[in-house]
Amino acid sequence: MRSLIAGNWKMNGRMADLRRIVAPLGAAAGQLGCDLLICPPATLLAPAARLLDGTAVALGGQDCSALADGAHTGELAAGMLHDAGARWVILGHSERRANHGESDAAVRAKVLAAQAAGLAPIVCVGEHEAQRLDGQAVAVVSGQLAGSLPDGFAGVVAYEPVWAVGTGRTPGEADVAQTHMAIRAALVARFGTAGRGMRILYGGSVKPCNAAALLAVPEVGGALVGGASLDAEDFLAIARAAPQLSKAGQGG
Ligand code: PGA
Repeated sequence: MRSLIAGNWKMNGRMADLRRIVAPLGAAAGQLGCDLLICPPATLLAPAARLLDGTAVALGGQDCSALADGAHTGELAAGMLHDAGARWVILGHSERRANHGESDAAVRAKVLAAQAAGLAPIVCVGEHEAQRLDGQAVAVVSGQLAGSLPDGFAGVVAYEPVWAVGTGRTPGEADVAQTHMAIRAALVARFGTAGRGMRILYGGSVKPCNAAALLAVPEVGGALVGGASLDAEDFLAIARAAPQLSKAGQGG
């Protein structure tokens, strides 16, 4: 299976940034042996889709409502993201869980809405530092998976330790391996064969200097990249550090 390198722009980016960041990705993506995805703010989805038309770079949103169209001021329905060109959506990011009080049940409802609208969800899970120090990382992540993934889940999981997001700190490779193996076991136990083929991304301070080591860890199927995705050269350097597989060798 090809790695997925996904960029989460968070609340960054204006029209003027599209040509600088997105155009070089579109030009390079066809030569890469991994899949590229960028998740800019919703305001930039439609213009980014026009710039990326005919390239191998996919587009995603950073959140969506669990609700359908209607009287929900300020919300974005999953179908609106799809209409603007998105085929993916990040859900349950730690910043949404912390700043907007999103529970596992709320994330699960959003996953269902996303899938119904034709978006592939990337569901984020990860422990706080105190929980890791307490030896609870795997238990916390397992609980989040059980609560956030609905039956029939067909997407990607991103393991993002909260303390590694935007801090420049990353877990050791053995810790990443242990958590990713636990996530794989949980996915297989719950979804059987389908769970074997789901990609599990690592996220949290992925940079060109640490990408090769993190992406080589067993069961790491790609990266969710925040800060470094705002620089086309850095983002492409991370993509080139991913194990490179041709489309033909992609498997399930
Ligand atoms: P970071 O963010 O790469 O800036 O740590 C990752 C994320 O929040 O998805």
